[in-house]
Amino acid sequence: MATDEQVPPAVALRGIGKRFPGVVAVDDVNLEILPGEVHVFAGENGAGKSTLMKVIAQVDEPSSGHVELDGQRVAFRGPGSARRLGIAMVHQEFALAPDLSVAENLFIGDEPGRGGWISRAAERRAARGLLDRVGLDVDPGKRVALLSTAEQQRVELAKALAVQAKVLILDEPTATLTERETEELFGIVRELTAQGIAVAYISHRLDEIFEIGDRVTVMRDGAVVDTSPVGELDEARLVQLMVGRDVANLYPRNHQPPGEVRLRVEGLGRGDAVRDASFEVRAGEIVGLAGLVGAGRTELARAIFGAEPPDRGVVRLDGRELRIRGPADAIAAGIGYLTESRKTDGLALQLGVDKNITMAKLPMLRPGLIDLSGERRIAERQRETLRIRVPSVGRPANTLSGGNQQKVVLARWLETGAEVLLFDEPGRGMDVGAKSEMFQQMDLLAERGKAVVLISSYLPELLNMCDRILVMRGGRIAGEVPREEFSEERVVALATGARSNHD
Ligand SMILES: Nc1ncnc2c1ncn2[C@@H]1O[C@H](COP(=O)(O)OP(=O)(O)OP(=O)(O)O)[C@@H](O)[C@H]1O
Ligand SMILES: [Mg+2]
Repeated sequence: MATDEQVPPAVALRGIGKRFPGVVAVDDVNLEILPGEVHVFAGENGAGKSTLMKVIAQVDEPSSGHVELDGQRVAFRGPGSARRLGIAMVHQEFALAPDLSVAENLFIGDEPGRGGWISRAAERRAARGLLDRVGLDVDPGKRVALLSTAEQQRVELAKALAVQAKVLILDEPTATLTERETEELFGIVRELTAQGIAVAYISHRLDEIFEIGDRVTVMRDGAVVDTSPVGELDEARLVQLMVGRDVANLYPRNHQPPGEVRLRVEGLGRGDAVRDASFEVRAGEIVGLAGLVGAGRTELARAIFGAEPPDRGVVRLDGRELRIRGPADAIAAGIGYLTESRKTDGLALQLGVDKNITMAKLPMLRPGLIDLSGERRIAERQRETLRIRVPSVGRPANTLSGGNQQKVVLARWLETGAEVLLFDEPGRGMDVGAKSEMFQQMDLLAERGKAVVLISSYLPELLNMCDRILVMRGGRIAGEVPREEFSEERVVALATGARSNHD
């Protein structure tokens, strides 16, 4: 971290405020981000972190106050202008064009500024160089839609580095990454800060805040409540600052002896993505699915749910063989799936929070007539339980913060009354308090005799919430770890193949 008094802050925020209709998203924020530091921004969902970063990146125009870069006041001219001034931002929800190639995405919007025509070959060479910097080994000509989430995130990062960045903003960059990928990202971040680049880093993960951060700013209700060097904080204090109360138990779980087998999967397969998967989940159980990104966990869930119907194998619920040709069949049979990518197949962004919550199971007065007040009641109940931050449940989902959008999708599946629930990275983007509420709800589902499958890349969640953990590798279930034998080492060894990772 730079301590030289002569060096002006890379970014200085002077009295920044940002209002949206009915919401004060950012309220009179004054702070400085120094060259060479990792400045972490933490706080509950909806606290204003992303909005503040969008003000710096000139995506959102502030309602009051101004921004200084290297001691110079800058006028608001839009994101292209901010990029040219050396502000690079990797957004919470990626903003890549799925139908363009990796190389095209990297240089989109930059070509005109470079004065003249860039050859395909030169573009590819430049792309290769950038991709190498972020350790991504894909063909620059590949369409972005064909990349995994983790790969897309790398492309976003490479795109950010395509400009000579002085300030790099990362909005929850590790939400989609496994621990190994997170370590690789940290390596890149450390290299950049060593070159004097200022990094603004939004995160909900306490462990990584302490690992990568130099200073932490905590926001609540749009305002800054504290900025401290990480060395002066501990986890309990940080949680206290974030949620304004003590969160006694991050992982509330009452383990019960499991009941009858509810979900039984036999020899399920789809292409190479899922191979010969067999397992069962009993009433009252929460079974974890662990594995590296690309190991086939999401593909397995999608096959069970019929999002990509399996080409072999059988799924049974309470002993009855199900015919699932698509998600509608799965929902009708009593299977719910909370997807990992809420933006693409989870939320209807233009629709209200209430409609989004009741979408999978509409309350009806009689056939053909939706019970609108029932819908509102359900939405209000979920808003309270999960603390969804929105001025009214009629507001469209796209006005919510990232974590609150995730809560809306979660609420939908909690309301379906499904017997089997597949949760794919459900806590992604949620603050610690909200996660604790979510796990409480999950525990309640188990207590009511439902069968729950929990996919998570964050091992502490699996180790604390699950009865058993299935570990996937290369599309197969590589092994099962019972609760008595839970340890990170066991799971990691199974996930990576223990002796080598070149399989
Ligand atoms: N375009 C918009 N229209 C209306 N309200 C908005 C808009 N964008 C953000 N908000 C509101 O501003 C507040 C702050 O949102 P922001 O996205 O900055 O939160 P955040 O701290 O990034 O939360 P999260 O951890 O969930 O990502 C929220 O109440 C949100 O609903
Ligand atoms: Mg956000």
